[in-house]
Amino acid sequence: MVDSTIANAGGISRSDWTSDEFKIISGANAAANGLSAPSPSPGDSTMDEIVRGLSGRQKKLPSKLFYDERGSQLFDDICNLSEYYVTRTETALMESYADEIAAELGAGAMLIEYGSGSSTKTRVLLSHLDRPAGYVPIDISAEHLIKTVRALKREYPGLEIHPLAADFTRPFALPASVNGSFSENPNRVIYFPGSTIGNFEKHEATDLMRGMASIVKKGGRLLIGVDLDKDPEVLQRAYDDSLGVTAEFNRNILVRLNREFGCNFDVDQFEHRAIYDAQHSRVEMHLVSLVPQTATVCGKTVTFEIGETILTEYSHKYTISTFTEIAEQAGFQSRRVWMDPEELFSIHLLEVA
Ligand code: TRP
Repeated sequence: MVDSTIANAGGISRSDWTSDEFKIISGANAAANGLSAPSPSPGDSTMDEIVRGLSGRQKKLPSKLFYDERGSQLFDDICNLSEYYVTRTETALMESYADEIAAELGAGAMLIEYGSGSSTKTRVLLSHLDRPAGYVPIDISAEHLIKTVRALKREYPGLEIHPLAADFTRPFALPASVNGSFSENPNRVIYFPGSTIGNFEKHEATDLMRGMASIVKKGGRLLIGVDLDKDPEVLQRAYDDSLGVTAEFNRNILVRLNREFGCNFDVDQFEHRAIYDAQHSRVEMHLVSLVPQTATVCGKTVTFEIGETILTEYSHKYTISTFTEIAEQAGFQSRRVWMDPEELFSIHLLEVA
């Protein structure tokens, strides 16, 4: 097994994850997210986030906790639901405009993907790009990343892949193997599909994109999938499907808290609920307590009234102009926008001004 270590963003050496054929580099805070530290200790910042989130008036949990191995699988299942138009529409858009998008991106692109998951949409891009210089998939689930990279290596034997297991909402270092060449490569591109940007509040989305701009630097680009505001009934069905996959995905966050963070939630006594908030153009995902109950969370007792909810995720919906405004605040200029004929979804190509 490879035993090399790498300096991360904080300058601390940490062992790489290894599989038989490649290494996965851990980001600065991977251990803090339970990827390699199954028994977190006090002061662990994810644990602090959990306790803080459950102490407020509206209880909350950080949505990155969704994506353990089981959650990543359930999310893939959501993406295949007919009610979840998001993935299907974005993939179709990528396929329809692949040539145009690849032509815009040009030859020799070094592609960094935020939240690569199963890299399904990326395959469309990789199949059309002119001799990409490399691909850096970043994902919070190391297990999922290993599976995905294994498949990609087979499908794109000539492609240099530098996987990074990291929480992209926190500072992270690019793998040393790409760091130098990335800043020298004139064609630096971040790919951020799936409308994951919608899962952040507007100020957080702006900060995240500002961080992306500082990574790709002037002339660097961001190709980003953004879900569009639409009929609330369509949204309701997309986030509360008839098979209950989304409900299971949402409740899995409590299963994970019990397993990895020593909590004792009675998972069956919480129900999934999706609410469309027209004023903020967003779907809110909640877990509703079906009874008055308590749960032990990191040694503290948390009390739930009947009907009280834990907010687990926002999914903001944009218009072309509300999104362009945020992009500009983050230091980007709009270069191209692609949309499906029904105007369900949009893909923006932005460039750092
Ligand atoms: N980025 C996805 C979205 O906002 C994430 C997502 C889809 C999601 N369905 C969900 C998150 C259900 C929580 C619950 O569309």
